[in-house]
Amino acid sequence: MPSDFGIDRIATARLVGRRPEPNDAAAFARILTDARVAEEAWPEHLRTADRAREMLKDMIAHWERWGFGPWTVLLDGEVIGYDGLRHADVAGRPAIELMWFLDADHWGQGYATEMAREALRVAFEVLELDRVVAETVDVNHASRAVMEKLGMAHVDTVMHAGLPHVVYALRR
Ligand SMILES: CC(C)(COP(=O)(O)OP(=O)(O)OC[C@H]1O[C@@H](n2cnc3c(N)ncnc32)[C@H](O)[C@@H]1OP(=O)(O)O)[C@@H](O)C(=O)NCCC(=O)NCCS
Repeated sequence: MPSDFGIDRIATARLVGRRPEPNDAAAFARILTDARVAEEAWPEHLRTADRAREMLKDMIAHWERWGFGPWTVLLDGEVIGYDGLRHADVAGRPAIELMWFLDADHWGQGYATEMAREALRVAFEVLELDRVVAETVDVNHASRAVMEKLGMAHVDTVMHAGLPHVVYALRR
């Protein structure tokens, strides 16, 4: 069923975000098992095609349940990752989390920030959420740079899976 919010497909200047679909599995497996992703950001034991399939399945289920979720990101029609919103426990509290993961071939072009900016607009203007958070391991400088470019503020540092994680937040 299409989302009641009319956000199954969104567009930015260079990218399209669309609701994830089972056919994204091969691209997700390729992107999420890429050895160029730093061990601290995405530990090797998570880099399996099974794990990628599970994540895609969870994203599809999230959309079905809530009418929003992370978008599959397309560049010129090609899947280059995901970026968007989901319900999550962050620092032990329920929150709406903004998350991203892009194909290493396309890092450093501002794509994660571009799609996340549109995700924040949807969060505040369409979903009428009050607060969005993002979390990453403290040494993930690229992810932190995205959070900072989005105007999010560092509000907490918590231990998660045995590693310090920073929590950033933005209010409507
Ligand atoms: C994090 C990620 C999504 C960023 O995607 P991206 O499209 O390259 O991000 P953007 O280009 O919008 O912004 C990246 C910023 O990080 C900066 N950056 C990249 N590596 C950096 C580093 N090692 N130290 C400091 N800054 C860094 C870039 O310079 C850029 O900032 P700038 O525009 O001010 O120059 C991408 O690196 C990725 O998918 N990483 C693997 C998965 C991951 O870590 N996901 C997040 C888990 S919480």
